Amino acid sequence: MNQHRTPENISDHVALTITKFLRFFADTFFAKRYGHRAVVLETVAAVPGMVGGMWIHLTCLRKMQSDRGWIKILLDEAENERMHLMTFIEIAQPKWYERWIILAAQAIFWNFYFLLYVFFPRTAHRLVGYFENEAVISYTAYYDQVSADLTLNVDAPQIAKDYWNLADDAKLLDVIKVVRADEQNHADVNHGRADSLDKPDDQRTTKKEPSFTKINSVNIQSYKDANYHIYDKPLFVINIGSECSGLHKLYERYGVNEAAVLTAYNPMSQETNDHDNKQNNQQLELILKNKKLPFIHAEGICPDNKWPGEESFLILGMTLNAAKELGKKFNQNAIVWSDQSAISQLILLR
Ligand SMILES: [Fe+2]
Ligand SMILES: [Fe+2]
Repeated sequence: MNQHRTPENISDHVALTITKFLRFFADTFFAKRYGHRAVVLETVAAVPGMVGGMWIHLTCLRKMQSDRGWIKILLDEAENERMHLMTFIEIAQPKWYERWIILAAQAIFWNFYFLLYVFFPRTAHRLVGYFENEAVISYTAYYDQVSADLTLNVDAPQIAKDYWNLADDAKLLDVIKVVRADEQNHADVNHGRADSLDKPDDQRTTKKEPSFTKINSVNIQSYKDANYHIYDKPLFVINIGSECSGLHKLYERYGVNEAAVLTAYNPMSQETNDHDNKQNNQQLELILKNKKLPFIHAEGICPDNKWPGEESFLILGMTLNAAKELGKKFNQNAIVWSDQSAISQLILLR
């Protein structure tokens, strides 16, 4: 089974070689003991998000710049991996020698990954992308094993039911499915980040902008810098000019190839009271429901918190013209819209 993306440069080849090398050890050591494999490997999987989040945090402090939502995304990834561990520890208890392996692996891997992240961040994200592809393959094998022998299909641990909102009678197979979906999401996020680090800076920001506008440049800059948090599970962030793997995933889920982020908050970017903002947004929500447009709650957040967050909607399958029309109806200065590339653009309406 080969679900890896094809390596395109030396950095990709290095990342894939390390992944295959470690995979060989995991296969030899654990063979088909997938529960144990999950416990030991999840203790490693939860490291990169924390290292990456920490390093971006420190970098932003030194350079006094926005993290464009990446710290939260990476820390969420680390937490999500820790929840995988907390779940599988209920299913398989590590043997004493596995605990020693966990200890040694953490000591080595934390330091290795930290140095890799500082000097070769693109390779670091690509490596995690490949690790996560391997995790999807392993969880698929685990799923097949449990499906073939249903005595293994024990009740889902309570912690998993709570975390993923599973049904009361959920089983191990249900857990493996949601964990595998998480791993796929991590793969997309990390490969996407590696891809975007490949691009020169001027390609990461949108160049489409009308030559004249009545909106002042400070406002335009703040719309561009905003982090558009999409409250899907897990949360992801849309940034103007960056390709968003979370959005690609939603396109696939809803069978669409475009989307818009809209709010009815603060018409003309004039600060409006909470009551009016909420009422306007309810109206917008009603329109979306009447038009049967699928949407996910979102929030536009200014990175330096100069403005309170604006409750918004990510609307799937919305054409550019429909999005503009609706934005104008609610007197918005601008909307965010993405085509099939999932690279979001800021669209000015005045
Ligand atoms: Fe995991
Ligand atoms: Fe993972």
